[in-house]
Amino acid sequence: MKHLVAPSILSADFANLQRDIEMLNKSYADWIHVDIMDGVFVPNISFGFPVVKAVKQHALKPLDVHLMIVDPDRYLNEFKEAGANNISVHFEACIHLHRTIQKIKELGCRAGVAINPHTPIAQLSDIVEDIDLVCMMSVNPGFGGQKFIESTYRRIRELRLLAQDRNPNLLIEIDGGVNHQNSLSLLQAGANVLVAGNTVFGADDQMASIKQLKDVSITRKAV
Ligand code: DX5
Ligand code: ZN
Repeated sequence: MKHLVAPSILSADFANLQRDIEMLNKSYADWIHVDIMDGVFVPNISFGFPVVKAVKQHALKPLDVHLMIVDPDRYLNEFKEAGANNISVHFEACIHLHRTIQKIKELGCRAGVAINPHTPIAQLSDIVEDIDLVCMMSVNPGFGGQKFIESTYRRIRELRLLAQDRNPNLLIEIDGGVNHQNSLSLLQAGANVLVAGNTVFGADDQMASIKQLKDVSITRKAV
């Protein structure tokens, strides 16, 4: 499977959000990554349902909603109604993670678990077969434009190994500090979804930056 690219609108121009969504529609982006922060689970507040609904009105691509909020079960219905196609919840935010995942699936969304840079990969061993996606944080969640954490490569390999028997189709999404220097190594380690905020929206040519992320190829010539 060719990897997916999910630009994060956390780094978009909020005063020109429609323009930026229309750019994503025309680009090679596969999903639109939507970061929801509550100021409790992470030390920042982003935006809520009205903004997600407004994005959905213009978006021609699936919304990949990343909930950095405590007790996300309270809001799953609302995010589905606002237009989410994928919903990822943080491992540390869910007391009954299995139940939360079932609920997301019942809503008809792809179900994801997001893990912090310190969350042991082994914690996923009894949920990995129930989920579609792991959103692996490669920065501490809360802000765009942070520096990529290098231990992510090892963690991707470990997760790919864990998933290989129980869920070989697992999507491993890397979120934070993804750029044109590390994208190939991330895919080689076993990732197959790249989130990018600053790398896309900080570029002079945003569509070209998305295409560059999409064009990264790990296929090798047969010898
Ligand atoms: C961080 C968010 C990320 C963020 C990525 O908490 O989850 O999705 O937008 O931004 P960059 O790519 O700039 O690190
Ligand atoms: Zn995110």
